[in-house]
Amino acid sequence: MQRPVAQIDGLGIAVPDRVVTNADFEKTLDTTDQWIVERTGIRERRIAAPGEMLTPLAVAASERAMAQAGVTAADLDVIIVATVSGDRRMPSQACDLQAALGAANAAAFDLGAACSGFVYGVSVAEGMIATGQGRTILVVGAERLSTITDFEDRSTAILFGDGAGAAILRPSDGRRGILSMFLKSDGRLAPLLHIPGGGNLEPPSEQMIRDRRQFMKMAGREVFKAAVLAMAEATDEAIRRAGISPDDIDLLVPHQANVRIIEATAKHAEIPMSKVMVSVDRYGNTSSASIPLAIDQAVAEGRIRRDSLVLLVAFGAGFTWGSMVVRW
Ligand code: COA
Repeated sequence: MQRPVAQIDGLGIAVPDRVVTNADFEKTLDTTDQWIVERTGIRERRIAAPGEMLTPLAVAASERAMAQAGVTAADLDVIIVATVSGDRRMPSQACDLQAALGAANAAAFDLGAACSGFVYGVSVAEGMIATGQGRTILVVGAERLSTITDFEDRSTAILFGDGAGAAILRPSDGRRGILSMFLKSDGRLAPLLHIPGGGNLEPPSEQMIRDRRQFMKMAGREVFKAAVLAMAEATDEAIRRAGISPDDIDLLVPHQANVRIIEATAKHAEIPMSKVMVSVDRYGNTSSASIPLAIDQAVAEGRIRRDSLVLLVAFGAGFTWGSMVVRW
């Protein structure tokens, strides 16, 4: 087993207060609670109120993570925010977060890896710790997906939610921390899950807005199949690279997109569902925030303890995927 370089010392989350249930969608869309639960496992999600921005959510999650790790904003060397739904296109969400935290000594930047963003962010932080570029690094997965969700499209509206999760990465004590890491992407699959309008390809226009091309478009069935394959590869690789067997894993924490994808991943990895974290029922798919939200719940429920061996695995638009084994 590799000697870890970095460990997660503190974790915090924040979600909007507003709960939107499947029954709420029954009033506005041709859908049912039964369809949504059977096909996705989602029962409710948090949706930001109008005017409720992402920065305060990211701040709340970060402050909780910092308090748990016993560090202050002045201690932060680097701030990495993984997001596809920041408050504005420029500057980065990470710089807005830095200003709000008063983290005057940090370098701050965003990372774009969609739903794999938290795993990618932790990987970058680990590398920066390994090369001595930072000792205290804040990694945040924060999303206001409701901004880029088409609430008139029943095939996507019901899937997504808003939220933020933050982690403090610090040098490992030599035993705890990240034991393996695996990242991969396939940009050829981009058209299966993307936002067509608003960038250089289709600059903002009245027509673009009328056609609702500022929102996420998804080929659900194809994404589902690709996700199952990618998550299988990612679980295999993280386990192999850590030099352990599936039996050693105390808890699998997969990206929370769809309970059927989670079940297929667990089955492939030969990890029983009793050792799998599911929080998609409460939060829906919150993209880069989903893994920290699931970890937070697992810790609260006593399913992750000090020294637990945890397998994180993610998949998202790009396509991107990745995984890691962590001794908590
Ligand atoms: N309520 C009721 N019916 C719905 C619906 C909804 N909210 N959304 C879609 N349908 C309908 C479709 O229109 C389709 O109807 P048709 O057969 O008359 O054409 C039918 O349900 C089946 O659609 P299909 O897309 O084949 O369903 P599915 O079993 O693949 O489930 C998803 C759809 C989106 C839940 C599923 O494909 C999925 O989860 N994909 C992956 C999405 C994902 O994880 N994305 C993020 C990756 S990070």
